[in-house]
Amino acid sequence: MAILDILTYPDDRLREHAEEIEDFSDPALQCLIDDLLETMASLPACVGVAAPQTGRSLRLLVMDCGNGRKPPAHHHGQLVVINPDILHWSGTDIGREGCLSLPDYTGNVVRAQTVRVTFQDRQGVAQTLELTGYEARVMQHEIDHLDGRLFTDRIVSRKTDLFQRKNRL
Ligand code: NI
Repeated sequence: MAILDILTYPDDRLREHAEEIEDFSDPALQCLIDDLLETMASLPACVGVAAPQTGRSLRLLVMDCGNGRKPPAHHHGQLVVINPDILHWSGTDIGREGCLSLPDYTGNVVRAQTVRVTFQDRQGVAQTLELTGYEARVMQHEIDHLDGRLFTDRIVSRKTDLFQRKNRL
């Protein structure tokens, strides 16, 4: 296992459309999943890392809302999410987001309040989850990374909704 380096803006690799994963028996994939989990655990208050943030252009992310500073009352704990697809969105919510790839900023981003998402787990087994609130926000943020999008792309006004961090994490 290894802690991976996180690419930061404006690295071009953060802008790629990541590839679908097909071979779940590939030891390199299983190793990458373990490395992403270790990387997430090593970073304070880190609730998600997407493979493209580590220079691997694959449709894979890990998340764990329990690692956050204020974990929500209900969440699904550690998730390994491969080839995700959001099937249904409902409601909207504005919330503050940060990103390891944009370490100096936070921003107010509009997201769906609830999402129904289908994906494959690390064994390739199909899963469907309904996520709400903060956990839904994290999932949408991380899936954006698989499509080469950063939260700053979704900010309406850089003047009023983008904030410089006072203290870097
Ligand atoms: Ni991010």
